[in-house]
Amino acid sequence: MAGRIPEETVDEIRKSVDIADIIGDYVQLKRQGRNYFGLCPFHGENTPSFSVSSDKQIFHCFGCGKGGNVYSFLMELEGYSFIQAVKTVAEKAGVQLPDDLGEETSKPHDPEAQNVLDAHMWLTKLYHHLLRHSKEGKEALSYLHERGFTDEIIEKYSLGFSPPSQEFVVTFLEKKGFHPQTMVKAGLLVVNDQGEYSDRFRARIMFPLRNHLGKTVAFAGRAMGDQSPKYLNSPETNLFQKNRLLYNFDSARSTIRKSKTVVLFEGFADVISADQAGIHNGVGTMGTAVSQTQAQLLKRYADEIIICYDGDKAGQQATVKAGEILKQTGCTVKTARLPEGMDPDDYIKKFGGERFKSEVLDPSDPYTSFIINYWKRNYNLQLEGDRIAYIEKVVQEVAKLDRAIEREHYLHEIAREFDIAVETLKQEADEVRKKSYTPGRPVPNVEKPQARAPMQSKLLPAFHNAERKLVAIMLNNPVIAEKVQEEIGGAFNISEHQVIVTHLYAYYEDGHESDISQFVERLDDPSIKELAVQLAMSPIGEEVTDQELADYIYRIKAEKTDRTDIKGLIEEQKLAEQHNDPVKAAQIAMEVLKRKKEMRNI
Ligand code: GTP
Ligand code: MN
Repeated sequence: MAGRIPEETVDEIRKSVDIADIIGDYVQLKRQGRNYFGLCPFHGENTPSFSVSSDKQIFHCFGCGKGGNVYSFLMELEGYSFIQAVKTVAEKAGVQLPDDLGEETSKPHDPEAQNVLDAHMWLTKLYHHLLRHSKEGKEALSYLHERGFTDEIIEKYSLGFSPPSQEFVVTFLEKKGFHPQTMVKAGLLVVNDQGEYSDRFRARIMFPLRNHLGKTVAFAGRAMGDQSPKYLNSPETNLFQKNRLLYNFDSARSTIRKSKTVVLFEGFADVISADQAGIHNGVGTMGTAVSQTQAQLLKRYADEIIICYDGDKAGQQATVKAGEILKQTGCTVKTARLPEGMDPDDYIKKFGGERFKSEVLDPSDPYTSFIINYWKRNYNLQLEGDRIAYIEKVVQEVAKLDRAIEREHYLHEIAREFDIAVETLKQEADEVRKKSYTPGRPVPNVEKPQARAPMQSKLLPAFHNAERKLVAIMLNNPVIAEKVQEEIGGAFNISEHQVIVTHLYAYYEDGHESDISQFVERLDDPSIKELAVQLAMSPIGEEVTDQELADYIYRIKAEKTDRTDIKGLIEEQKLAEQHNDPVKAAQIAMEVLKRKKEMRNI
C-alpha cells in the first residue's frame, strides 16, 4: 500500500507528528477529556461530532462515520494520494524522504486540473517578472510603490503585470505546451467567433488568487487608471469558485488559528496593506458578499470575526449583509469603525498600522451594538411613533441573544437612552422569547459536544452488540485478543468483524502493541477501516471483567450454532422439496422461521 516508501518510514513519519496538530490546521479542535472535538470537515453540522484521539492517533466522526489515521484524513480532505499524504506529513515533521519518489507523486490525479494549475503557476511567474523587470511594467510598479506597497509585499503576493498585448500570453502558453482550448476553459485566454485566441488580461496589475493550499487558481486584474471594470476577474471554473475562495486564506490561516480571530476585508488592496502593517490574519472576499461556505470555513478556525469594510454607506450595508450570515456561525461578530469615506487601505496609508490596530480594530463594536445603531437611520426618532417602533425592533433583536447578561446590557442602554424603565423592556423581551420558543426544539446555541454514538444499539441484535464490544476491546488490548483467538478464532458472525479480527490477530502476531492508527493501514476496504476506527474510538470500558468477556463469547458462539442449525435445516428443506415431500418441506420452513424469530429476540 505504501508504494515505494518503506513501511517503517511511513510509520516513523506518522509517529513523529500529533494527528491533532495536523487536523488542527483544518478544524478548530477543543479538548474534552482525553479527546478533541470539532465540527466535522466532511459533512455540514452545527454541533461537533468529529473527534480526534491523540492517544490513539486517529479521528472519527460520529455523525458521518468517516474515520482513520492522519494519512486517511489528508487523503479524504485534500484528495491526496497515499504518497502525497505521507509527503505532506513528512514535510511538517521535518523528516527527510528518499528523493527517488519522483515529482509526479505530488500531483493530483486529474491531469487536466494539474495542467490548469501549471498554467496558472507559469503565468503568475510571467506576470510577476514583467512587473519587476520589464519596460512595460515600470509604470505599474511605480504605481504600486506610490500606493505604498513594498517590494517585499509585492513578492509575497506575487503581484504582477499583464502585458498590453493581444497574444503575448497566447504565444507564451503555447510554447509551454498548453492547449489553447484548455486555457480558454481555464479562463486564461479568450476566443472569438473566428476561433482566434487572445489574452484575457491586458495592461492590468495582476493579483494571483490562491486557494487554501497556496496554489494560484485564478487572477484578478486591476486597471491602471480609471478604466472600467476596475477589476477583471477570471471566470469561475472547477478550481475557482468565488463563494468558496477567501483571498489570502492560505497565508493567514496559521495566524487565524493562533489568535482565534480573523479580520474580513472587502478589497484585495486592504488585505495586502493590513498584512504589510502587521495584521496577518486578514482575508478578503472576491467582491461578493461573504457566503455560507466561507463563513463555515472561518468558523473552523476563529472564535471572533471582525468585519472591516469601507466606511461609506455601501460598506455599512455590506457589513449588515455579512454580519447576518456570520453570526449564524456562532462566532462573536464585531464590526470595525472606519471614518466616513475611508477604506482600510486608505486608513493604514494615512495613519499607519499601529493606529489602525488601536483605533479601528481593537475598539470594534459587537455586531448587536452596530446593528442597533445602524437601524436608527430608518426612523425619525423625534416622532413618538417611530421611536416606539424602533425600540420594539431593538427588543426583538436583543431577545434573540442567548446570554442573559448581554440582553441586560443592551436593554439597559436602550432604557437609559430613551428614558424608559428597564423592567418594562425586560418584560417585553421575555414575551418575545417565550413566543419564539418551540417545544421540542433544542435550546439554541448551547454548545456541547454531541454525546458519542451509542455503542450498544437497541436496534442491533444482542450478538451483534456483543461482537462490536468485543472487537472494540480487542483493538485496544492484545492480551484479550489472544484469549478470544483461542476461544473462537475468526468465527464472528458479521463478516466485517471477521475481516478486522483476522488482520488484528496477524498484526499482534507480528509483535505489535495496540496501535489503531498503524493497524488501520492494513485494512484496504475504506468502510472496514472506518468501522475499525469507530469501534476503537467508542467509549467502551477499557477494563472488562472475565464474566463480561465470557458472556460476549457465549452470545457469539450461540448465534453461530443457531445459524449453522438453520443452514442445516434449509438444506433439509431443499432435500424434501427435491423428494416431492411438500408437507415436510413446509414443516421445516416453519421451524426455520421460528428459530430466526427467536434469534432476533435474544
Ligand atoms: P483599490 O481601488 O485598488 O484600492 O481596490 P479596492 O480593493 O479598495 O477596491 P474596492 O474597495 O473598490 O472594491 C472592493 C473589492 O470589490 C475589490 O477588491 C474587488 O474584489 C471587488 N471589485 C471592485 N471593483 C470591481 C469590478 O469592477 N469588478 C469586479 N469583478 N470586482 C470588483
Ligand atoms: Mn481601496
